[in-house]
Amino acid sequence: MNVCILYGGRSGEHEVSLRSAASVVANLDTGRHRLTAIGIGRDGSWHLQKRIVRRAIPGQGEALEILPSARTVSVVPAGGIHADGERLAIDCVFPVLHGTYGEDGTVQGLLDIAGLPYVGAGVLGSSVSLDKERSKRLWRDAGIPVVEFAVVSRSAETSAAAAVGFPACVKPVSAGSSLGVHRVDGAGGLEDALADALRYDTRALVERFVDAREIECSVVGNDAPRAFPPGEVVTTGSHAFYDYEAKYTDPEGARLEAPARLEPAVRDLVMRTAEAAYAAVGCEGMARVDFFLERGTGRLFVNEINTIPGFTSISMFPRMCAAGGLAYPELLDLLLGLAVERHRRRATVRFEK
Ligand SMILES: Nc1ncnc2c1ncn2[C@@H]1O[C@H](COP(=O)(O)OP(=O)(O)OP(=O)(O)O)[C@@H](O)[C@H]1O
Ligand SMILES: [Mg+2]
Repeated sequence: MNVCILYGGRSGEHEVSLRSAASVVANLDTGRHRLTAIGIGRDGSWHLQKRIVRRAIPGQGEALEILPSARTVSVVPAGGIHADGERLAIDCVFPVLHGTYGEDGTVQGLLDIAGLPYVGAGVLGSSVSLDKERSKRLWRDAGIPVVEFAVVSRSAETSAAAAVGFPACVKPVSAGSSLGVHRVDGAGGLEDALADALRYDTRALVERFVDAREIECSVVGNDAPRAFPPGEVVTTGSHAFYDYEAKYTDPEGARLEAPARLEPAVRDLVMRTAEAAYAAVGCEGMARVDFFLERGTGRLFVNEINTIPGFTSISMFPRMCAAGGLAYPELLDLLLGLAVERHRRRATVRFEK
């Protein structure tokens, strides 16, 4: 297949995308696929890469460079992607983009208009999944347990927020990387936490803060999603929760265990719930479903779903698949196959009588 990866992007997770893309490039079976890479700058400009350059980042693997290119890249309705007016040979696009303008359905819509198959969820699944309020409403409606929450759009609306109780967790409806996420222990801390969360989005969620183990589960598939045995994120040291520092800057901040140590019945419940949560928000291709397993009560809650999860070789998504018997290169082949299958299926849908 001629595979085109899109990486970088305008979101706060630009750097993470460069790392995810480097490991997709390293693991793609080049005996079977030919690779084209388009780097998206922080300003949103698209750069067709003449050659693919990986650079080492000390202690954190590798990242793809974005080499500036003067060629004009255009996405043509029903005509694929062009460079200087010439159509690029592309059988499938792999958007390795996290967050806004990458994981939220915008790029997916662009690729639909261009008529290209792409890896991962479509427009609806992507945009619903990035919206933590809408996804939780759909899960609640489907009988899938979520933590109680309130939605606030102004930092002065502290009474709606206080109704959830303390300790509370305040976070933007859509952001990522734990940006704007706060634990709040009493009413006095609410307004500042809301103001910060509302820097990242126009709506904030206020949830009960659950004392929980954080369990994650990889799901792959279109109509018949398949979950892999879950993993666990163990936050270590001084972090009150899995915050930005624990994720990215403190090398001892978190330990990722795959598979997680769970009773077989709990493991199975996580896997079946992950598949149901995936289907309820219209996901296709792949996603990582994140859970809270409450200490003391043993209750399981879906926290969120990520349609383009971290893809570095140490990231949870590929690691959980590998622990479940699907090695990284085969995982990529499977995702490309699912993308093409969905594209063919959609092509059979009629728009006229
Ligand atoms: N209700 C909650 N109770 C306890 N801890 C929470 C709660 N909500 C979030 N957290 C903590 O904050 C972290 C980040 O929150 P969340 O996963 O909702 O957003 P995010 O990680 O920023 O989004 P993404 O995973 O898409 O980057 C969680 O991993 C968890 O450690
Ligand atoms: Mg998260």
